[in-house]
Parts: sequence; structure tokens; C-alpha cells
Amino acid sequence: MLPIGPHTLKNRFLLAPMAGVSEKPFRVLAFQQGAALCTTELISAQGLFRLTNRTMRYLRYDPNVEKPYSLQLFGGEPEAMAKAAVVAKQYGAEIIDINMGCPVKKVTKTGAGSSLMCDSGRAGAIVRQIREATGLPVTAKIRSGWDASNKNFLALADALGAAGVAALAVHPRTRAQGYSGKADWTVIRDLKRHVGSGFPVIGNGDVKTVADAHRMLDETGCDYVMIGRGALGNPWIFRELNGGSKPSPQERCQTVLSHFKQHLVHHSEARVHREELEPEARAAKDERMGVHSFRSHLAWYAHGLYGASAFRAEVMKLDTAREVEAAAERFFVGAQVDAQAMAADQEDVDYRAALG
Ligand SMILES: Cc1cc2nc3c(=O)[nH]c(=O)nc-3n(C[C@H](O)[C@H](O)[C@H](O)COP(=O)(O)O)c2cc1C
Repeated sequence: MLPIGPHTLKNRFLLAPMAGVSEKPFRVLAFQQGAALCTTELISAQGLFRLTNRTMRYLRYDPNVEKPYSLQLFGGEPEAMAKAAVVAKQYGAEIIDINMGCPVKKVTKTGAGSSLMCDSGRAGAIVRQIREATGLPVTAKIRSGWDASNKNFLALADALGAAGVAALAVHPRTRAQGYSGKADWTVIRDLKRHVGSGFPVIGNGDVKTVADAHRMLDETGCDYVMIGRGALGNPWIFRELNGGSKPSPQERCQTVLSHFKQHLVHHSEARVHREELEPEARAAKDERMGVHSFRSHLAWYAHGLYGASAFRAEVMKLDTAREVEAAAERFFVGAQVDAQAMAADQEDVDYRAALG
């Protein structure tokens, strides 16, 4: 297996960076279930200079579990990105991943995210300057191009390769496609053929099952498979990919509860309250906000189980930790897989909520 910079990974299966999802508690869970690398959600270079509480929360990681620690940065200016990467290194980052795929306007209009695909000179300069400033391996996550008439992933790969990028992850949709349509895996295959056997390519897009992951490896020749939505509510996909079993209902329930506990801690640690609050009111507000941001995880965990739709409706009304625990115990302890629902309710889940 090709290393990424100096890092030899334990297998070929990686968790995708996902804003609002790939936070410390979920990354730790995915690592524990067998993921070889879990990149943080995108972190603003500007945010790293100001080190707001929110950015500090994004920077939290578990050095005992998250090895190596890969941090995704977004920004458009090479110098600012290099300075931000130095800060990221001080906070433990061992791999810097550059977001070159985010389609969201408020990111692209600053010259960051997928707009970097339109300026391979600047994209290359970002990689080069971060490498020079930090000495860390730099990876990039790209799309196939800006739109159907500008699928320039091969030229971009050349520019990033010349700048010394350590690996490329490709999500084979254009910026214009967003997350719609089908991921075009021939893009991954063409990229791998273009860069050759010695350079690591990470394929991404529409891998929902163990069979999908193996099919991607076979059809494209990529070195690693990166899984995003397929891991939502299903961190066990990494265990299955490494030959392990699906969770029992009891295990699923325990995992949901412990993930929830970690989620509450993670979200309350760095919260800033604009108004003056008594400690009790502050704790209650922290709890409510933590519960609200965990609702989507609960909905994802219910995916493919009997009674998932009714449970999701119930989840949207939960406000307190006690309510979450009671609802989760009631639903997950006996919940059985509904094979038909597994296929049918894929589209029920709003994956995009976290993108803002
Ligand atoms: C909710 C959500 C948040 C995402 N946030 C990020 C992000 O912060 N950085 C990034 O590079 N890609 C992000 N993505 C894109 C994913 O990493 C991945 O490329 C995409 O979901 C396709 O892979 P999948 O079909 O396995 O989900 C996000 C996707 C989703 C659904």
C-alpha cells in the first residue's frame, strides 16, 4: 500500500471530511471501527489566525486514537494558507489536506474550495508554500472540475504533483453538479492511470456498502477509498470493510449513547454565550443546542431500521439529554434491520443540512 508522505496507513478505507459531521467524536468512532484516516471538516485559514472558540473546537482531536491526524484547511491565498498550516501544525496536525472541492458560494467567492480548480497556479502555490512552511505532507481533495465543459482534473493533478502534493482525493462530480447525479468513477480511473502506480489516489463518491468499496478499488485502480455519506449513522462500515461484523442492536444502542455523550461534551466545551446566563441556564442551553445538533446523527443511525420514519419525526422534537437517552434506548435496543427500507429510504436523509 502506498504511504501518504511518511505515513503508512493500516488499510485502504478512509472517512471523508464532512462539515458538521467529521468532528472529533465521530472521527474517533470511525477510527475505532477501523478507518485508516479521518480528516477533519474544513477549517478556515482565517479562523486559525483568530483562534475563535469555534475554531478551537474544530481543532480538538484525540492524539491517542487519531493517528495520523489530518486537518483540512480552506482558503485561497498561498501565504495565508501557509501561515495557517503552521498554526495547525502547532495544534498537532500531521497531514494538511487542502479543500479544493467545496461548492458552497461563500467559500468559492473568496477564491477557496472548488474555485481553486480554476487556478491551478494558485492551487500549486498553496501546496508548495504549506510544504515549505511546515515540512508536513500536503494532500488535496479535488472534484472533476468546475463544470461539464471544464473537467480539468488531470491538468490540476499535474500542477499539484509538481508542487509536491503527497496524495490526491477525487470526488468525481463537477462543482456545478454539487452532490447531484451519479459520481463518475471513470474520472478516478483516469486520474490513477495518469499519475501512475507510485502516486496515491483516493477515490470518493457514492460508496455506500462494502461491495461498492471493493468495486471502486477494482474498477478504478485507486489506492484508497474515502467514504462520506455511507458512514453517516454507520461507522461500522469500516469494521465490515476489514472483515468484521455488522453491529447487534445492543451494540448500536450503546454506540449511539456514547457518541451522544461525547458529542455533548465536545459541543459544550467551547461554546460562547452572547448573553449573560446563570450557570444553570447556561448548562441547559448548552444541552439543548447539543441535543439539536445530534438530531441528524440520530436520524442517520435509524436508517434502514424498522420504524425509522416515525423515529425521525420523534427525534426532531427532542430537547433534553434525558429525552434523547430514553428515545434512543426505546428505539435502538430492539431495532431490527429492514432490508427494504435500507434501499428505499436512502433519500430521506438530508445530508446537506450540515453544509449551511
Ligand atoms: C454534510 C457534508 C459535509 C461535507 N463537508 C465537506 C468538507 O468539509 N470538506 C470536504 O472536502 N468535503 C466535504 N463534503 C464532501 C464529502 O467529503 C464527499 O466528497 C462527498 O460527500 C461524496 O462522497 P460520498 O458519496 O461518500 O458521500 C461534505 C459532504 C457532506 C454530505
